[in-house]
Amino acid sequence: MTDPFPSDKTRAFGKLILFGEHFVVYKVPALVGAVSAYTDCELQYLDEPGLEVVDNRPAVPNYKQQKYDEGMEAINLTLNHLGVDTKKRGIKLTFGGDLCCASGIGASAAQVVSLARAVNHAESRSMTEDEINAAGYEGEKGYHGTPSGIDNTAATFGGLLRFQRTDGAPIFEKKSLPSPIRIVYASTGITASTTKVVGDVKAKKEADEAWFSNLLEQYKVLVDDGQKAIEDGDLVTVGKLMDQNHALLQELTVSCKELDDLVAAARSAGAIGAKMSGTGRGGLMLAIAPTEEIQDAVAKALEALAPQVWKTTFA
Ligand code: MEV
Repeated sequence: MTDPFPSDKTRAFGKLILFGEHFVVYKVPALVGAVSAYTDCELQYLDEPGLEVVDNRPAVPNYKQQKYDEGMEAINLTLNHLGVDTKKRGIKLTFGGDLCCASGIGASAAQVVSLARAVNHAESRSMTEDEINAAGYEGEKGYHGTPSGIDNTAATFGGLLRFQRTDGAPIFEKKSLPSPIRIVYASTGITASTTKVVGDVKAKKEADEAWFSNLLEQYKVLVDDGQKAIEDGDLVTVGKLMDQNHALLQELTVSCKELDDLVAAARSAGAIGAKMSGTGRGGLMLAIAPTEEIQDAVAKALEALAPQVWKTTFA
């Protein structure tokens, strides 16, 4: 008898960055929460050599078309890293799950981490979670040259994490929350290229190191305060700091009108903090709400403007 498809063994989560996208590339800490929605991957062996990929993941319009080449590159990098040679033995990969792929949600990382889990399961390799994460990191390089590793780490480990890239292995730590954080997140419907946006930030940094270092210093204070507020369960302060983080990202030029409009609408509907999340220049924003009623009101306000809106809770 063949094993039924073991979705639970290949799951990898999407993520929302509470503090620190872009700055995290420059080796300062960030705070990231995994969402419960996941990507999974079924691996079947073929009679002929070759690689067949079936992508059944839900996605915002155009996401899969725009990310197709990068996605295939990411899959091949992950397979290479794991020593899987499809020229010798063919495989068919079927990606699924309930994570709706949109710029900013970490869909690429969830895809390659689920692939690493599928190889691990199909070949009974007993890989450690760190090895799964490392394979995901190699795959992420298909989507952009200098990933910080935050997305694959959230995809692998789940929960709320403090994450810091270093010259060697990243440092990350799971955080427990004294009170749940109610979140609404919304897509602008615009698919951004992480390679391009991360590259632009790098070029701007190199053109004006003093400007960048001033923003980075402000961010470093903010993320430490944000972590303390999360640990204290002080969501009002978390929200204020998220607003400030959004302002820094505007200065970094990675926000855009669509994101700014959604952030403003969320705040008007009662969110206690709102910011873009992930790559920016499109992609996603998130807002935090103090009560379930306000979470519903924020979601309703965003639904009037955004093509996709979701609710989740970090607990
Ligand atoms: C993308 O989710 C987050 C970025 O900071 C890139 C990265 O950390 O690799 C924009």
